[in-house]
Amino acid sequence: MGSDRYNRGMNQVDYLRISLVDRCNFRCQYCMPEGEEIAYVLQQDLLTQAELATLLQEVFIPVGFTRFRLTGGEPLIRPGVVEIVKTIAHFPQTQDLSMTTNAFLLAGMAQDLYNAGLRRINISLDSLEPETFDQIVGNRGRSRWQQVWNGIQTAYQVGFSPLKLNVVVIPGVNDHEILELAALSLDREWHVRFIEFMPIGNDALFNHSGWISSETLRQQIRERWGLTEGQVKGNGPADVFQIPGAKGTLGFISQMSECFCDRCNRMRLSADGWLRPCLLNETGQIDLRTALRSGVPTSDLREQVSELLRLKPEINYKQRESGATGTYSRTMSQIGG
Ligand code: GTP
Ligand code: 5AD
Ligand code: SF4
Repeated sequence: MGSDRYNRGMNQVDYLRISLVDRCNFRCQYCMPEGEEIAYVLQQDLLTQAELATLLQEVFIPVGFTRFRLTGGEPLIRPGVVEIVKTIAHFPQTQDLSMTTNAFLLAGMAQDLYNAGLRRINISLDSLEPETFDQIVGNRGRSRWQQVWNGIQTAYQVGFSPLKLNVVVIPGVNDHEILELAALSLDREWHVRFIEFMPIGNDALFNHSGWISSETLRQQIRERWGLTEGQVKGNGPADVFQIPGAKGTLGFISQMSECFCDRCNRMRLSADGWLRPCLLNETGQIDLRTALRSGVPTSDLREQVSELLRLKPEINYKQRESGATGTYSRTMSQIGG
């Protein structure tokens, strides 16, 4: 597993990001621009709960995947999400299970998710200002901020740990709030992560606003409080720091300023059953749903996934050479971040 015929990127690829649905109850500017039509997956083309369980048990776990993250669109709008959590949490091979959510529905679901076996969660929180927040996520008549904030508070009270807050930094939109957002890590065990804005989803906004490097943000934070190295449980590409004395940490996801393709440890399964080896590149992707539904034995699918694992270092290498952007026809919400 993870062998590299190019002798580079000897990573263990054991982290699967599972998108449960491509739809979202938000429409974040950086992900799904207003007015742009998105071709959603038809209901009948979504992997069913049973198909997902089969793929995990008979394909992904046998080839070595042990860490799983549920994503969307917005995973909490997927009917049966609590049961899906329960199923995956109870596989004896599951070493880590987490979720990335916008938290809009979290207040009412946090306890059930926890009881089903979910223990950690990453939440998008791009602003502490309700108006800015609504501008980013698309206000459809009433403010969304308070409900998201309640979701975060509930998740914290229920005991999710680590609890991470994801901030996509967009110049001119929320970059004036870096210090306030970083301060959320001071008094509570909240782990705030700043994500460099990527040209995927909304090219017009990207071309207009540009992006800010993690190092620029770290400099601001360093000047205010100082910054040391930190540690928090995670499988992703974040570089972790900490404000001295803070209860939580600060993470920086720097896919624009420092390509981390050479330490890539993950693959992505879309809601309609495509397995893709790279966020930014569709090379080699496999349509597992069609194969499963047309009766291809899961032993053959295991072979195909193993072959993709063998090819992955080469795909990562090519992606790294081609820079932060790649070839893709799906938005971030369709891929699951
Ligand atoms: P942890 O296990 O908590 O470290 O999770 P994570 O950081 O892997 O998950 P999360 O869904 O919170 O991801 C945060 C962001 O990191 C995503 O929205 C992406 O912007 C970025 N990211 C994650 N994986 C990749 C990747 O493989 N390539 C690139 N370019 N960006 C990624
Ligand atoms: N650049 C960086 N991060 C993005 N996300 C969505 N679109 C982009 C983009 N263009 C992030 C969200 C969330 C995750 C699922 O993907 O903020 O944290
Ligand atoms: Fe891996 Fe592709 Fe992300 Fe690079 S861009 S880290 S190869 S998924």
